[in-house]
Amino acid sequence: MEAFRDYELFKTKFYSLSNIDLNLYKEKQMKRRITSLVEKYGYTSYCSFLEAIKKNPELYSTFINYLTINVSEFYRNPNQWLLFENRILTDIFKDRDLADIKIWSSACSTGDEPYTIVMILNKYIPLERINIIASDIDVDAINKAKAGIYSYRNMKDLPQEFLDKHFTMLDSDTYQISEKVRKRVTYKQLNLLEDPYPKGMDIIVCRNVLIYFTEEAKNNIMKGFSESLNKGGVLFIGSTEQIMNYQKFDFKPIETFFYQKVGD
Ligand SMILES: C[S@@+](CC[C@H](N)C(=O)[O-])C[C@H]1O[C@@H](n2cnc3c(N)ncnc32)[C@H](O)[C@@H]1O
Repeated sequence: MEAFRDYELFKTKFYSLSNIDLNLYKEKQMKRRITSLVEKYGYTSYCSFLEAIKKNPELYSTFINYLTINVSEFYRNPNQWLLFENRILTDIFKDRDLADIKIWSSACSTGDEPYTIVMILNKYIPLERINIIASDIDVDAINKAKAGIYSYRNMKDLPQEFLDKHFTMLDSDTYQISEKVRKRVTYKQLNLLEDPYPKGMDIIVCRNVLIYFTEEAKNNIMKGFSESLNKGGVLFIGSTEQIMNYQKFDFKPIETFFYQKVGD
């Protein structure tokens, strides 16, 4: 369609507006998503949609939410969390005080992932000693994380002991995670494609977001993660993701979905 030929210009203008570089996301998938939203709202070109989101903060926020795909779950892919607990926390870091381990959930979405980490750590150390960093590009997702209110569908894989210990049922489908757990996570907005990363990390969790990025973007992120991790630190990625060229970033695979930094 003639009117839908302005995607390149849209990407440039959207970058000035949001600091989100759509060139670093896989094009086919992203363009398809954007086109369907633009059409749903009745716009006939990308740039007319862009003018609309500039003027309408609510539409802007709807667009960012839609773009960022915030789907998350507590204890998502349970086998990976069992490895995280039994192979990483209590094996690789067995000689460390777990309270001193610096953990960063780097695309934390609505908080399901950092709170899962807090609950696992709390099997070994008191809540007051736990401090996790969590970040996401999407401020709305971070605000949801801070509120800590979830539908049951987000916790279908959560072990019952965690549900009993850390959640209050608000109604038949809605649960809130305790304030004591929420207080253990420090949230900040961080764009993995633009912003500086925190340093001195022991574990970085980056799950179910790398799949959206181009190879070039993924390489930059891997370089950033490698610089952010201490020697011996561990990167935990999602179940549909893999890092082909891990040696280039001083990583070695230690389990499926877990890489350890070998260099300084
Ligand atoms: C599918 S969710 C994954 C959430 C969680 N890690 C999990 O596995 O359940 C992907 C998250 O990545 C975030 N995201 C997308 N692009 C990002 C970027 N450039 N920097 C940081 N986060 C980003 C989205 O906002 C979204 O919350």
